[in-house]
Amino acid sequence: MSAPDSRQKLLAHAFWLSLALIAQTVAAADPAPGECPQRRVTVKAPPEYLARTNPLPASPEVIQAGERSFTGKSKSVPCVFCHGAKGDGKGYLASQYVPRPRNFTCKEIMSELPDGQLFWIIQNGSPDAAMPPAKHLSDEEIWQLVRYVRTFSR
Ligand code: HEC
Repeated sequence: MSAPDSRQKLLAHAFWLSLALIAQTVAAADPAPGECPQRRVTVKAPPEYLARTNPLPASPEVIQAGERSFTGKSKSVPCVFCHGAKGDGKGYLASQYVPRPRNFTCKEIMSELPDGQLFWIIQNGSPDAAMPPAKHLSDEEIWQLVRYVRTFSR
């Protein structure tokens, strides 16, 4: 290996290391995952969605179906990775994202959010945040998820 080669490698290494440090500093600047109340910059759903209420009952079957999607046991992205198994916003990926994943156990925030808002964000994701869209889920599957997410702040 010639000298310029290893100098280049060293420079590249230093470059990636500094990028990683900057990313870490930015993530650390936001409060820890799971705060209550937490900063919420989420886009508001269109009015026709906000007016919708959950057509499914809060029955054990509906809630269990929602839980299966939430934990990734169906065709859904595992919501638990970010929102945590307890819905507290402390999933194992949570500290990587700013803004932080929503803490569903936080009544102060959740009681202000209409069903139609939760439905719309689950379906379309949150622009400028890590919250991914779930366009492949049926309306029924999304309403099941909304029912399940509500159980964390009951
Ligand atoms: C990769 C991480 C990640 C995954 C996976 C994820 N979310 Fe999120 N979620 C977020 C983040 C980050 C936010 C906060 C978005 C914001 O502040 O705009 C959020 C916000 C939300 C909100 C709050 C919407 C609001 O108006 O405040 C709901 C509801 C939600 N997610 C449900 C889900 C469901 C259900 C799933 C699984 C289908 C899921 N999320 C998967 C990261 C994720």
